Amino acid sequence: MRIVLIGFGTVGQGFTEILRDKGDALRRQYGFTPQLVGVATRSRGTLMAEDGLDLNALLEAIQKGHLDTYPNNPGVTRNLSTLELLEQCGAQVMLEAGTTDLQTAQPALDHCYTALAKGMHIVSANKGPIALAYPELMARASKVGKQVLFEATVMAGTPSLRLAMQALAGATISEARGIFNGTTNYILTQMEGGMSYAHALAQAQALGYAEADPTADVDGWDAASKVLILATAIFGKQLKLSEMTVRGISSITSEDVEAARAAGERWKLIARVTPQGGTVEPLRIPVTHPLASVGGATNAVTYVTDMLGEVTLVGAGAGRRQTGFALLADLLDLHRLGV
Ligand code: HSE
Repeated sequence: MRIVLIGFGTVGQGFTEILRDKGDALRRQYGFTPQLVGVATRSRGTLMAEDGLDLNALLEAIQKGHLDTYPNNPGVTRNLSTLELLEQCGAQVMLEAGTTDLQTAQPALDHCYTALAKGMHIVSANKGPIALAYPELMARASKVGKQVLFEATVMAGTPSLRLAMQALAGATISEARGIFNGTTNYILTQMEGGMSYAHALAQAQALGYAEADPTADVDGWDAASKVLILATAIFGKQLKLSEMTVRGISSITSEDVEAARAAGERWKLIARVTPQGGTVEPLRIPVTHPLASVGGATNAVTYVTDMLGEVTLVGAGAGRRQTGFALLADLLDLHRLGV
């Protein structure tokens, strides 16, 4: 499978490390032989290699700070623009792992449209195109007979979307609710242990949980983007951020955390989505509540269904390998489809 990777930050690098470390196992177990034929960054160069890039050399180059430091192997083309790379690389699948923009979804949305026009399937870790342009993206994909997969966009590699869209197919889901942001859950958990808000946020950034601009996390917009994605993917409803109640945790103080603790409660940033709309808000819940024990960067989703009642999934919500793994899971789905 020939793959082009757009965006080579935390998620793209985590994914590349997984391919490097699990390459043999993936071939043996699934007959899956992925080949990375191009990588694009926003400001650290691009690479294209017809016969595939050397993953170790690629990871070393980005650690040195620029893809220019990748060896001068035969067949390597450097510094194409991202759109030129998409035009020329001959990949079957584009991985979109660039920075999420919740205002415009760009430039990721243009990457997706170009990739579809070039006959590629799309696997997106970028929340922008899925949250803001799902109907158009799916219409274009179905016109050219291609898939758009996006497990990475909600709860990292924890299969929250597979559960709803595949395992629960045939059941009617009336509501999804839970904890959809790793950074804020990590901060709240650390604050309960006595750490300051600023220190906990800095740790969440260092651990690769936070968005490039972490205000998206702490002000609730990242969780809200996941509400949009669940609404469109599960309910076929295109919600708007401007029509939702969205509140984050940036105004929660150590004193607030202590007051909740003294009352046998805990602050959690709770998201909820139904076919009618969605909310994201910090709530004090009793320590006996099932979501109260979901700590650190772990997330949880409860689907309310007609067939099974409530079905709850708890697992990693953010992180380098945890999100990189979602890209692998989607690629394996495409491999099973014969791509
Ligand atoms: N910044 C996000 C979070 C990453 O903290 O949950 C996963 O989407």
